[in-house]
Formats: sequence, structure tokens, C-alpha cells
Amino acid sequence: MIVVRSTEYSFSKHSDIAFIATMGNLHDGHLALVKNAKSKSNFVVVSIFINPLQFNDPEDLNNYPKSLEVDLEILELAGCDLVFIPDNAILINLEPIKAQDLSNTLCGKSRPGHFDGVLTIVNRLFEIIDPKIAYFGLKDYQQYLLIKNYAALYYPNLMIIGCSTERNKSGLALSSRNNLLNDDQVKLAANIYIELNSIKTNYTLNNLNLLKDKATKNLQELGFKIDYLEAVDALSPVTDTYIN
Ligand code: PAF
Repeated sequence: MIVVRSTEYSFSKHSDIAFIATMGNLHDGHLALVKNAKSKSNFVVVSIFINPLQFNDPEDLNNYPKSLEVDLEILELAGCDLVFIPDNAILINLEPIKAQDLSNTLCGKSRPGHFDGVLTIVNRLFEIIDPKIAYFGLKDYQQYLLIKNYAALYYPNLMIIGCSTERNKSGLALSSRNNLLNDDQVKLAANIYIELNSIKTNYTLNNLNLLKDKATKNLQELGFKIDYLEAVDALSPVTDTYIN
């Protein structure tokens, strides 16, 4: 496995690249993306860069879990061909990208500018790496749609694939930020999945608000502070491509 620890690298010597962008602290969700990429391409590139542009809260950025050396071991075992670990030079003369209106709702509402930051770095990574196919987790569905729509406009030859969410035994979606939780909090967090599933299972045409209010109340009673709880029909202007 090639490890590139700088922004300067010429990717043009590789062809048909499958790409996975990450901020490191890898878990089985990331590895599922690598597995999917391996099945479609002979050359899989994973980037690891904690992108300061997408954090609204400096404390969140400082606390973001880091485990670079373990990440490299995991990627080697998973069959990744090249790990790209750009330095902060990647941020120099960056073209700022303004995300589409879809970025102003849901996660974007409580994190203004977050998706602009995501698209700005993803655009830069696409420019540098020039992949043929790129994989993103459907856990971050709003991010996935914004990237997919952006790529459809500016990288028409690049295929964006969404991969299903990996969960632990209790249903909690795997996420690097779970590492910031203690054991009790991890157990408690499974209630998010339980409540969302209950809405999905019990939804009929006229009970949605009732179900959302009930789920909100249940979570609040358990101590959750909720940014938003929404049920949406996530239609996208471009055709979705899912891998299960
Ligand atoms: O999903 C993430 O980990 C990040 O938002 C991404 C796509 C790597 C951009 O920094």
C-alpha cells in the first residue's frame, strides 16, 4: 500500500481510481466502502483529512477522534492501494464551493456553512485524484445527495455510489464520533434507531406529526438534546445508485 503524506502527488500515473474520502478514525462503515470499491476497481484510494472547513465548533474539531497509525493498518488489511493524507497545503488557494439550497435544511440548518466546507474539500479532492468512481455512506444522506448532485454538474464522468449504513448490534449507526461516547451513552444512543424505526414502521398518511412528537418526547425524556427529527421522502434530482 502506498502512503502519501503530503498534498503533492501525481495521481495521473494511476487509472480507473475508486475513491473514498474520510476524516480517519475508521470503522466498519468505512471498510464496507473499501470493500465495495475493491469489487469495482483495481486501484482504491482512501483519503484521510480532518477538514477544518466543515466544523462550526472549534471544540468539535479539536476533539475529533484521531487514530492514524491504526487506520493505516486497517486499510492495508482491507486491500486499499493508496492512502492520501494531504497536509494543510491542500487548503491554500481553495476555491470555495457554495452548496445547493438543499444544504439549508436538516443537518445544514444547525450547522451553517457545514456543507459548503464539505463540498469545497471534496471538490479539491476530486480535482487532485480524478477518480472514476467515488463511494459515500448513506448514513450522511444529505451530504451524499449534495455531493452526488454537485458531481453530476461538474464531474459528469464520475460515478457517485451510496453505500448502506453499518450498525452495531443495538442498531446504532457506526460513526467516528461514537468514540467520544462512554459505554452508557453508546447504549443510550441506540434509542435514536429505535425511535426512527418506530416512525418508519407505524407511519400512515395522517399520523406523522403525532409519531414525530412522540419520538421527540421519548428521546428528550432520555436526556437527548435534539437538533431536528424529521421524516422525509429523500427524492434527489439525479438517479440514486445504492449498494446494499
Ligand atoms: O463524511 C466525511 O467523513 C466528510 O464529510 C468527508 C466526505 C470526508 C469530507 O471531509
